Amino acid sequence: MGFTTVERSRPDALFTAVYRGLFAPSFPPGELGSEASLADALRDGSADLFAVVDDAGAPVAAAFGEWSAHARVQLLTYLAVGPAARGGGIGGRLLREAVGAWAARRDPCLVVAEIEDPRAPAHDAHGDPRRRLAFYEAAGAQVLDVPYFQPGFGGPGHRVLGMLLLVLHAAPQLRHGDAVDGEALRTFMEDYLEAVEGAVTADAATTALLEALDRPGGVPMGPWRPGQ
Ligand SMILES: CC(C)(COP(=O)(O)OP(=O)(O)OC[C@H]1O[C@@H](n2cnc3c(N)ncnc32)[C@H](O)[C@@H]1OP(=O)(O)O)[C@@H](O)C(=O)NCCC(=O)NCCS
Repeated sequence: MGFTTVERSRPDALFTAVYRGLFAPSFPPGELGSEASLADALRDGSADLFAVVDDAGAPVAAAFGEWSAHARVQLLTYLAVGPAARGGGIGGRLLREAVGAWAARRDPCLVVAEIEDPRAPAHDAHGDPRRRLAFYEAAGAQVLDVPYFQPGFGGPGHRVLGMLLLVLHAAPQLRHGDAVDGEALRTFMEDYLEAVEGAVTADAATTALLEALDRPGGVPMGPWRPGQ
């Protein structure tokens, strides 16, 4: 069977099939935005979707990303491969294609992704967090040294705590040795919190995260260390 990568910048039948058939089963509900919010992001031009389709046009893998022009940060919001196709190289290929396209189109930019703590338990449908980190590390990802959490759909009480923020690409202008530009990341984080939670609140977790982004010299990145 042949596989082709296609791109969508508007919601359509393929988007619906990706959301319902790939994303909804692959992510815990608290980590996945609503179908309407992803469709809106495609419509307003801030998001794009890459999908790998089989010969019949059915999606077997997809990557959805959101661009913050203000911060010059591209978030790989969701990447999923259908369970039957996992482990066959499709996810790695799609990740390279999507990151390569974003890095070229939006130069200079940072491309980041958020993943669960690798010590979290594995789940049949959602996958194994340790192997997921290994997947991204094999693609060259570096872990930012920040106490990251995914903003909560519905407010701060719904945050996913203890996540990692990865750097998949950093343009030379936004990179300072083994650190990346904290200002770009802070702008990205504030915009992200406002969009998802409605405001940037002054709670302890937000303050710790923003302080970590404000460190002089940028935000250090490197391999994941337990306890990070
Ligand atoms: C993580 C994922 C995108 C990888 O795509 P893939 O096509 O399976 O990966 P590739 O074949 O290119 O690379 C194989 C590597 O992917 C990772 N992987 C494969 N299956 C996995 C699973 N069920 N859970 C987590 N990681 C997995 C492993 O690191 C694997 O290497 P290994 O076989 O040496 O352990 C895919 O497994 C998936 O969709 N998982 C569920 C959803 C998810 O975790 N999305 C990413 C979070 S944003």
